[in-house]
Amino acid sequence: MKILMASSEAVPFAKTGGLADAVSALSLTLAKQGHEVKIILPRYYSINRDKLSPLEGELGVRTGGGEEWCAVYTTDLPGSPKKNQVQVYFIDHELFFGRDGIYGTPWEPDFLDNSRRFTFFSRAVFQFCRKIGWYPDVLHAHDWPAALVPVFLKHGERGSVEFAKTVSVLTIHNLGYQGIYSKDNFYYTGLGWDVFYNAGFDDWNMMNLLKAGLNSADKINTVSPHYAQETQTPVHGFRLDWVLRYRSADYIGILNGIDTSVWNPQKDPYIPEPYSVKEMRGKAKAKAALQEEFGLPVDPEVPIIGMVTRLTEQKGVGEVFGPAYGSAWSICKDMDLQMVLLGSGESWCENEIKSLAYRLPNFKAHIGYSEKESHLIEAGSDFFLMPSRYEPCGLNQMYSLAYGTLPIVRNTGGLVDTVQNYNQETGAGTGFMFDDLTPSAVYNTVGWAVWAYYNRRDDIEAMRITGMKQNFSWEKSAKKYIDMYETALAVVS
Ligand code: ADP
Ligand code: GLC
Repeated sequence: MKILMASSEAVPFAKTGGLADAVSALSLTLAKQGHEVKIILPRYYSINRDKLSPLEGELGVRTGGGEEWCAVYTTDLPGSPKKNQVQVYFIDHELFFGRDGIYGTPWEPDFLDNSRRFTFFSRAVFQFCRKIGWYPDVLHAHDWPAALVPVFLKHGERGSVEFAKTVSVLTIHNLGYQGIYSKDNFYYTGLGWDVFYNAGFDDWNMMNLLKAGLNSADKINTVSPHYAQETQTPVHGFRLDWVLRYRSADYIGILNGIDTSVWNPQKDPYIPEPYSVKEMRGKAKAKAALQEEFGLPVDPEVPIIGMVTRLTEQKGVGEVFGPAYGSAWSICKDMDLQMVLLGSGESWCENEIKSLAYRLPNFKAHIGYSEKESHLIEAGSDFFLMPSRYEPCGLNQMYSLAYGTLPIVRNTGGLVDTVQNYNQETGAGTGFMFDDLTPSAVYNTVGWAVWAYYNRRDDIEAMRITGMKQNFSWEKSAKKYIDMYETALAVVS
């Protein structure tokens, strides 16, 4: 099958979150299964052109504002199978992408011209295919920045010979971001106002890119079965639950996998010594290395709670670090534990965390981004805290399980599909779970985990092993994507 992934992020080129990991890992797995996969991304300023090869000639892209020209660059996706490389293409447009930031910067979090930047990108996808004379069976778009790809296919391009047999799939990685802009920007799509209403761009007199994409894609999915259910309810639907209910026959949840070549305690270059279910010594060494790295007393007996997270409302950070009401202060004061955090995001939260770390001897935090430290936290912690308000899938809890670190999570989204709550009677489970997102629920559940650590150590050790034996590889999920593509293709062939 020929598949083109249209995305705003893909590792190792551009990443703000799990979307980037998911797009590249899924592409690699599909290629390993024999499919022909290409990825198309904007060429952000941070992606060095010198390391890419240019395609000959420019690409002319017709928009509602006239014809725009851009260049296209290419390279292989690292880790691709030798005989079936995943080719990555970059749309290079100085005005739209020649600046710092993917969606924005700390001083302009959502660029004013984002709707035009990503409309242009989605339009360019089709001209790019014409340029290289390659027409995919499946156009697979990810999240709101690529949501216009299915719209352009349905309302125009499918009428052309080249795309008559192409289908579109739209994956929701996060329903909280929809690309809602003033409809003054709609002219730039080059589509007629009939399409504005027929494709459902209209959103309280604004223009909603994701909503139009959800109405236009042949198939829709999100990144876990539980989140697929939740998003069809008003609580988690971000006002689009009715659209998803309307499309429920074409909407499923497929759990993300993890890249086991990167997240594997048996061959992780960032930890002092490899370990596995058979030989766990390396985990104790990782714990000591983590304590040293963060300047905590090296003590094998005290439990460590780790966190690696974007510091934003979605991740429940208010309930943990909110001034006066957050639970971190009492957790660290009342319990015999250590806590470490790596993260960056909203500045109020970064400041609170710095202030807590200054006042609490058993809480240490690094504000910033670090691959190495994220691996060390996953490996060296005893527990991993993820109190998400909502979580489409979540990768960190799966990394934790693979490293024998027990997740403490909220009962939501992909966390429900990947973590089994501890059963104190039988000793079964892989983590600790709570229902309501309140500071006291976080406090009590961390307290429960710490109690089990000191009083039910056999259960804890058994849970670690069960976690490490879980299979979160991409192979299973990639097959489900293929099934979805095939059902969509059956209609056009
Ligand atoms: P989301 O995409 O919503 O942020 P996920 O759990 O799906 O949540 O993915 C987050 C990804 O980003 C993981 O690979 C995680 O390790 C990584 N990550 C987040 N913050 C940091 C950080 N400060 N340093 C290193 N990696 C980070
Ligand atoms: C989003 C979600 C996260 C998911 C990731 C990859 O960033 O917030 O839960 O794991 O996408 O699909």
